[in-house]
Amino acid sequence: MWWRDGVIYQVYPRSFADSNGDGVGDLRGIIDHLDHLSWLGIDGLWLNPTFPSPNADWGFDVSDYRGVHPELGTLEDLDELVARARERGIHVLLDLVPNHTSDEHPWFRERRDFYVWREGRDGGPPNNWLSIFGGPAWTRDDETGLWYLHNFDPKQPDLDWWNDDVRAEFDDILRFWFDRGIAGFRIDVAHGIVKDRELRDNPEATAEDAEVVQRLGQRLVFSMNRPEVHDVLRNWRSLSDQYDGVLVGETYVHDLETLARFYGEDGVDELHLAFNFVFLLAQFDVETLAPVVARTEELLPEHAWPVWTVGNHDITRFATRWARGDAGLARCVLMLLLTLRGTPVLYYGDELAMAETEIPPDRVVDPEARRTGTGRDGARTPMPWSDAVGLGFTEAGVEPWLPFGDASVANVASQRADPGSPLCLVRDLIALRRSEPDLLGGEYTELHAAGDVWVYRRGSRHLVALNCGDEETVIEGAGTIVICTDRRRDGERVERALRLAPRSGALVRLATPNDG
Ligand code: NOJ
Ligand code: CA
Repeated sequence: MWWRDGVIYQVYPRSFADSNGDGVGDLRGIIDHLDHLSWLGIDGLWLNPTFPSPNADWGFDVSDYRGVHPELGTLEDLDELVARARERGIHVLLDLVPNHTSDEHPWFRERRDFYVWREGRDGGPPNNWLSIFGGPAWTRDDETGLWYLHNFDPKQPDLDWWNDDVRAEFDDILRFWFDRGIAGFRIDVAHGIVKDRELRDNPEATAEDAEVVQRLGQRLVFSMNRPEVHDVLRNWRSLSDQYDGVLVGETYVHDLETLARFYGEDGVDELHLAFNFVFLLAQFDVETLAPVVARTEELLPEHAWPVWTVGNHDITRFATRWARGDAGLARCVLMLLLTLRGTPVLYYGDELAMAETEIPPDRVVDPEARRTGTGRDGARTPMPWSDAVGLGFTEAGVEPWLPFGDASVANVASQRADPGSPLCLVRDLIALRRSEPDLLGGEYTELHAAGDVWVYRRGSRHLVALNCGDEETVIEGAGTIVICTDRRRDGERVERALRLAPRSGALVRLATPNDG
């Protein structure tokens, strides 16, 4: 199955490539760069929302689920992208946003019963639920005096998933896109679309809760995360199975037991892939991450398949957040991502170890930044294709919708020409995965994970050793280095012990297979 063996690449369409010089990336820009994605060796392309949207939350406020945002192109462009991608063996996934619509979606006027409306309580909102973007999750409608629910921006009213007509609409939307050749969906807020029927107050956060939960101040156990969401996912799975479609969930939950449930019974009747936010949100140190991987391996149901990611459009770029600007550590992270058991999802630019871009206050456009002060714009800046004026993203002289980052280190052209670059490392690791069964289906066996050193075997013959610390380390074993983060060492024989410089990693083919 392509989504198990392959690599998925996430594109934030507004920032990938601008084909018509308006400063905004578009579908044609993606079509123009498909050869690059083929060269990189990816199998799936997940496009962040492409639907018409007033862009209160940059596409996550959808006003028509069956269309394409005019700034990004037309439905025909999307059809062409799907067809051109297919010629290259690339499957296109769209970003489905079922938790909420835009308040400018016609449903908000015409089908009020599609949304969650309630009387206020004591002159205030109906309950204590907080919006992820800050403030109460309710806004009062002046005309009727009723309040509507929005777990995100007030311009993103939550749909009422207890209404069967809403369910039927989305079944139809899924079919609409599957019929056009879309290979599947990333599902936004996949854990949260069903709300407590009685709208009970959320309990306060405690010291044991994940940092993000503590920051918000309450546990979202009633405003999201209801068990009934599994019925919706099971239904979508059976619908998707009719098309061989794949469902990747934004399962933003903070414990792995809950995560595992999103794969359904035996791992076969709900999501195909459920994003692991315990991993993504963890600190980058071996003693934190290795147990997360081990526990994920242990808890996933028999037929479930892990998915790993080191960044996305909602979180600081990994090169800054995890690798803290260190080129060696960034290479270790990329080696980790591409050698764990499961599907890697690469966020555009991560293959270049692109850093977070600093956004001057007058260029901030993220609604979350305006309300909570921490923004996501810095991880969404234009893809640096070259160091030309416009960075090969747009025409010279055009100001892009978000400012350019520093392209002197991270740009596609210079990294393609440099065999030692992060980009070539990613490409070579992807190519190796493809041809090496150990790296696809081979078991993950942790051999050592202490201090800054993480060593694991994949299958019987491959060993991955990551030295994330400041001291040289020596790992016992014999074989041949297939790929080292220091590419000059590729092909080196390891007689008895592998010496690894600080902040470097190696993938070794063992001289003797380990069948135990
Ligand atoms: C999660 C998305 O990834 C994020 O970008 C968005 O703001 C919220 N869901 C609301 O749709
Ligand atoms: Ca454009």
